[in-house]
Amino acid sequence: MDLKALTAEHLEHARDRTWSLLAPLDDDELRRQVSPLMSPLCWDLAHIGHYEELWLLRALFDTTPAEPRYDDLYDAFRHPRRERAALAILDPAGARSYVGDVRTRVLDALERVDLDDGPLRRNAFVYGMVIQHEHQHQETMLATVDLLDRPYQESNGNDGDLRVRPAAPADDVEASLPGATFTMGTDAEPWAYDNERPAHPVDVAPFQIDVTPVTTRAYRAFVESGGYDDERLWSSAGWAWRHDAGLEHPQGWRREGDGAWSVRRFGRRVDLPADEPVEHVCWYEADAFARWAGKRLPTEAEWEYAASWTPDGTKRRYPWGDEDPTPDRADLGRLRLGPAPVGAHPGGVSPHGVLAMVGHVWEWTATCFGGYPGFRSFPYREYSEVFFGDQYRVLRGGSWATHPVACRTTFRNWDFPIRRQIFCGFRCARDA
Ligand SMILES: [Fe+2]
Repeated sequence: MDLKALTAEHLEHARDRTWSLLAPLDDDELRRQVSPLMSPLCWDLAHIGHYEELWLLRALFDTTPAEPRYDDLYDAFRHPRRERAALAILDPAGARSYVGDVRTRVLDALERVDLDDGPLRRNAFVYGMVIQHEHQHQETMLATVDLLDRPYQESNGNDGDLRVRPAAPADDVEASLPGATFTMGTDAEPWAYDNERPAHPVDVAPFQIDVTPVTTRAYRAFVESGGYDDERLWSSAGWAWRHDAGLEHPQGWRREGDGAWSVRRFGRRVDLPADEPVEHVCWYEADAFARWAGKRLPTEAEWEYAASWTPDGTKRRYPWGDEDPTPDRADLGRLRLGPAPVGAHPGGVSPHGVLAMVGHVWEWTATCFGGYPGFRSFPYREYSEVFFGDQYRVLRGGSWATHPVACRTTFRNWDFPIRRQIFCGFRCARDA
């Protein structure tokens, strides 16, 4: 398939998934400020359209704005999420109609664009940026839907338990990785963001890393042994936040009368699934668990090395190789509304025997978000550069809610260490 046809297909696929995610929700739910941490869903929807208009119409073809006031309303930097419901934003019908109009014009203009003309167009980079943006906002919207706390089922047919359930590896199994100079980041990935570039050598000392993300079973042992009451396990900032926010267990957990635990998932209460990765813990909780286990969080470099580097010194696009993700390799793309058991994707094993590095849950790392040596912002500073510094921690690997197009072993996500409404967990590491 030629690049333009492939691009059009990606655009339409992303939009189909946006519609299937939003279809079960009524207008009140689309308009509501569900949490101060999240935007109203109809803001996200129109913002997807505005971003597409900015980059695929105005930047490429110098078109006039559909509506100048959208530049203020839908600029994520001008209005914090908690204020967006009070703005004069489009209602759900208006947002649907706006994004549809933009898309019609974009597909029409795609036929005229020269995909060899400059870095924005080459390899359809700017189209890839917009496609990934839509998928990333779907994941954000899904976190909002989870907080709606009403029974929700997406209307895409992916509503069953789709996976085989091979026995999960025991908790605490580790892989030993030798020290190496490996290549971190990428120059080759056509749709990689600026923060993934350039590829550069990094020295990593020998270390051990957990073969799977930390399970709810292991995390429950931390909770029940008093981990949330033992100040020695927490960083000082983490201890202060644990008290300010009243953290006693991961988001959505509840202790039932018989001593068992349940977890709230998209408006339903289910028994805590022991073989699944723990989800909805903040960086401070992950850090405290690691100390309790006698370990630490992996650095971002250790994570990428374990996920992508082979013993013979070559880099892979994914832990299993360069072939695209499939459901037997990775828990990606909303196969169901929650993570798979940690051993459910044996085809995704890395060259060093590490499982579930791509998909399942975003994994907190010890590292603050920053630019690689030789970083150049592209195509705009607000994508990455303005977030560099010690206030954000890097997360890696994507979650069950991440689309394969927006996931690779070089992909970098970042968030505040107090955040846990995203689909995040972690695994531990230690020095060899
Ligand atoms: Fe955005």
